[in-house]
Parts: sequence; structure tokens; C-alpha cells
Amino acid sequence: MALFLGIDIGTSGSRALLIDERGAVRGSASGSHTCQAPKPLWSEQDPAEWWAAVRQAVPGAVKAAGARPEDIQGIGLSGQMHGLTLLDKADKVLRPAILWNDQRTAAECDEITQRAGGRKALLKMVSNPALTGFTAPKILWVRNQEPRHYAKAAKALLPKDYVRFLLTGEYATEVSDASGTLLLDVAKRQWSAKLLEKLKVDPALLPQVFESTVVSGKVTRQASEALGGAVLPGTPVVGGGGDCAAAGVGSGIVKRGVAVVSLGTSGVVFLHADEVKTDPLGRAHTFCHAVPGKWHMMGVSLSSGGSFQWFKNALGQEEVAEAQASGGDPYDLLVNKAAAAPAGSGGVQFLPYLTGERTPHADPYATGVFAGLTPSSTKGRLARAVIEGVCYSLRDSIEIFRSLKLPVKEIRVTGGGAKNPFWRQTLADVFGQSTCGLVAAEGPAYGVALLAAVGTGAFSSVEEACAATVQTCDPCTPNKKNQKIYDTYYPLWQGLYRSLQGDFERLSKAAR
Ligand code: XUL
Repeated sequence: MALFLGIDIGTSGSRALLIDERGAVRGSASGSHTCQAPKPLWSEQDPAEWWAAVRQAVPGAVKAAGARPEDIQGIGLSGQMHGLTLLDKADKVLRPAILWNDQRTAAECDEITQRAGGRKALLKMVSNPALTGFTAPKILWVRNQEPRHYAKAAKALLPKDYVRFLLTGEYATEVSDASGTLLLDVAKRQWSAKLLEKLKVDPALLPQVFESTVVSGKVTRQASEALGGAVLPGTPVVGGGGDCAAAGVGSGIVKRGVAVVSLGTSGVVFLHADEVKTDPLGRAHTFCHAVPGKWHMMGVSLSSGGSFQWFKNALGQEEVAEAQASGGDPYDLLVNKAAAAPAGSGGVQFLPYLTGERTPHADPYATGVFAGLTPSSTKGRLARAVIEGVCYSLRDSIEIFRSLKLPVKEIRVTGGGAKNPFWRQTLADVFGQSTCGLVAAEGPAYGVALLAAVGTGAFSSVEEACAATVQTCDPCTPNKKNQKIYDTYYPLWQGLYRSLQGDFERLSKAAR
């Protein structure tokens, strides 16, 4: 039996998943990580936690699948994008990894734009503007603020690529994740020597960059032992993908006009592109796809599921207690209350910017906001406003694609939130467009397991692998009445951010 292993290094945990040649999931297991926020705007993680979670998840998945290590023909790696892991000459981690949702680098973003010769010149070199979440500003932050660490830094690796190093001993990355460093010439699919020179960053700091299906190394004996023998030494490890591109592959987003909305902590709208198209306003990202020779456009809302999780933690004690007593799920109980509230939440609106925002505002200081509260604003209306606010923020990305004349013909939805029919219906109503779900909504780990199958010869292309394995389900058409209500509220919701824009930075500074 030929099996392929996908490993995803997420933010709150890592997951390993085994599929067979037909794409059927044979087993999976996870391990969790913790995040630290030692200062306002910071978000960090100890890379040792990734490896500990992988050491738990991989043997767990192999056991759950009842597989033999020799059945595993290839491994694909996926992970949270943009994180900076710095290693010294002896491969020791120099400081905690700085994560994708860290917002400390506003000054370094300005520095990069200025060193590049302006925003337009930067867009030309790397197809994207400098955003606080990206990796290059983090590298410059360490250089500016922690010069002792910078002086010792020998390699800068993305989260999944640090795990790759521990698995294979190779310093390597692949084009989709490398796109989010801001150091890749996205059009040419190689490091931008020009920008590295302008930033005075030594190219030797970066790993070798591969296409996502290419074998980047083989499991070492030491790694095989660390995984309890669950995978054999010599097992090939393909490039894999950043979690967004990996989820794109796992959702079959390999054709023009097809998009997927992933609802995790962040919310991602991911659209396949056959050519490199750059948003002149820099609101949406232009990255390489994990499909060789293809690209994708992407909009990222930083707190999508994260906003609803915050709402449950802050205001859902009653539902948490009820769920504990009944064995139910507090999120479902809150969604039921939201569903019973009117569309438009009786005028309550929510800006889901709890950890700043990426698309379309690129504003590290933006915060969450409730507006339109009155004495009749029940918890159900507030819960519905949070869900609607998250959906409006995802619609912002779709509107950007539409304005760039990139057709969005089919929208698939996946991720934790998408399992709930009310979330799915609200997305369709707010987008004013039908959506569908995925039969195997297994996310990034599934996508990179498919890339491993392609890279080791089980399929001749990513497109062929997706056609053979990915199936859609649960079509959802917009409710015309609600669509009309949301079309009225959406521009009002957009106006709220504009009205408050100047206040966010002042508030953030006052709170420090
Ligand atoms: C993508 C992004 C997030 C992380 C989270 O640009 O920042 O989706 O990859 O996993």
C-alpha cells in the first residue's frame, strides 16, 4: 500500500495526515503549541514546540492509519506562513520565532519601502508591498533591535522549513511560502537579488528555493529515530507549501476563476491565477502557487475564526457552561443564538480587527469595534454581528479581485467555521454568490500529502491529483432577502473603518 504523509505546522497546533493513492484519508493525529505575546503587538512561539508536536502527531497518524513505515512513499510539509526562525552557525535557534500575526514591524516596513526606492519599485521587484506580517520586516527588526542576535544569525527559516531542517538536515524552502517573505521575485520564482542588495541582507541567510512538488531532501536516521521509527530514513520530503497554497491544493484550487475561503484563526480568500497580476494598491497578495508555473492572489483577514473565539471567551461563559453540562459545543450554541437574530443584527456592526488587519487596510493598529449598540442589542445580535463582520471583511478581498477583473466564478469554503451551515449561508448571502463545501475538508496537510504524491510519481501533475481526489458538496445559494440587507449594510460597515482609522494608532499608543 502506497501512502503519503502531510504535516502541517499550524499556529495552535501541528497535524499529520496519511492519504492513500486515491486520496482517501487513512489516519491523522495532532499535537498542540502555545503562543506568547510578551509585549503589545507581539506574537511569538518556541520552535521546539513545533518539533514536539510533530513527534507526537506523526507516530499518532501512522498508528491511526494502521500503516507500516515502509508504506510511506513521500512527505509534504505545510505551515503557518511568514514566521521567522533564526538559527546560528551551530543550527541553534537564536530567539523565539516571530509569527505571521505579529505587528511590531511598522517602522521596518517603512524602511524597506524606502530602501527599495518606493512602493512602486518594491511592487515591481517582489509583487507585494511591505506588510508587518511578512518575514523581511522581521529580519530587519532583529537587525535594528537585537543586533547581537542578528550578528549570530546564519539561517532564516520559515516554520515548516525549520521542521524540514530537523527532518532532513537540509536548508530548503519552496516558492509558495517563500513568496510571503517579501524577498522572492514572485514573477521569476527565485530570490530577488535586487531587493536583497538594497536591504543589505546577505543571500546566504536564505535557504535554497524549490518548486513545491520537488524533492528537497530525505528523512535522516536521527529524525526517523526521533519519530519513533514511524517514518523510515531516506523517505523523500517534497517542497510542500505555505498553509494557504497547501489548503488551495487540498481544495482543488488549480483552475482560473476558482477560489476558496478558509475560515481558521485568520480568514483567507485564495484565487488561482495563470499569470502574475499585482494589485497596484497592494491590498491583496500576489504569491506563487504550489502548482509549478502558476500563481495565486490572496486576501487575508487576520481575525476571522479568531474573532468568534474571542467572542466566546469574552461573552460566552453561559454557553461554555451549558456545553459542559450537555456535552455540546459552545460555538454551536452561540451560532444558534446568532441565527435567531435578524439579518443585519438590528444595526449592530463589528469590525473584526482584533490583531490589526492585513487585507485591505494593512493596518497593524486597527482593533475590534462594536458599533450601533442600543438597549435592544442582545447577545444573539452581537454574535450575529461578529459573524457578519467577518464575512464582510472576506467580501473585501473578493471585491478587490472583482475590481482587478479577475473572475471569481466558483467559491469553495473550508476550515473550522465552514463546518457550520449558518456560517456557510451567511458567507453566500454576504458575497451574493453561491458557495460549496469540500467532501474531504482536511486543509493544508491534505494538500501537501497530494504534493508528496505528485513529487514521488503517483500522479503526473497537481491538476491530475486534484481532479482524482477533490470533491465538492453542500452547495449553498444566497438568500435574496438577506443578500439585499447585507448589500445595504456592507458600505456602512466599510465606512466605519474609514471613520475610525486615525483613532486606532492613538488608541494603541495610549494602551501601551
Ligand atoms: C497568510 C497568513 C496566515 C498564516 C496563518 O498570509 O498570514 O494565513 O499563514 O496560518
